[in-house]
Amino acid sequence: MHPDLDHIVLTEDEIKRRVAELGEQVSRDYGEESILLIAVLRGAALFVADLAREITSPIEIDFMAVSSYGSSTESSGVVRIIKDLEELIEGRNVLVVEDIIDTGLTLKYLLKNLASRKPKTLEIVSLLYKKDKQRVPISCKYVGFDVPDEFVVGYGLDYAERYRNLPYIGVLRREIYAE
Ligand code: PRP
Repeated sequence: MHPDLDHIVLTEDEIKRRVAELGEQVSRDYGEESILLIAVLRGAALFVADLAREITSPIEIDFMAVSSYGSSTESSGVVRIIKDLEELIEGRNVLVVEDIIDTGLTLKYLLKNLASRKPKTLEIVSLLYKKDKQRVPISCKYVGFDVPDEFVVGYGLDYAERYRNLPYIGVLRREIYAE
């Protein structure tokens, strides 16, 4: 385990197994219909790469980058699009791929924005979901794991851009971010 972590929450194996299950579920639901996966940078980059390989339906991948104003650990609710989609989504099956839903504010904004572009379907897959923390109700069709409201890093999730490359997800030691 990385020395900056307090404990591991999800092992590499647990993540791998669950991502495979999510891929199967998505493939069953969409069948031969094509899906546009929209990954929200940067955290979801690792998850979408693994999830995409577990989906048997035809897929395309596009990326969006958003930034929330305010502190780095807490979403302020004000979201700005830094990088928009390359693709038009009107009439398409859109599946937004997130690494974590925390307060739900990022997705609330994003869903409203994407819905206005008139996709045929619009669903969310999030690897992690902080249930206790939710401030706005987000209907997320595919959830990997419910996690407690702790500072988790790894598998795409960062603290100050670090730890995204850990193959597992763990809780950061308090003294690391309280410094
Ligand atoms: C994280 C995560 C979501 C958002 C969730 O991104 O990837 O996009 O926060 O938080 P919310 O539900 O409270 O809105 P972050 O802003 O940390 O950027 P990153 O993906 O580049 O790390």
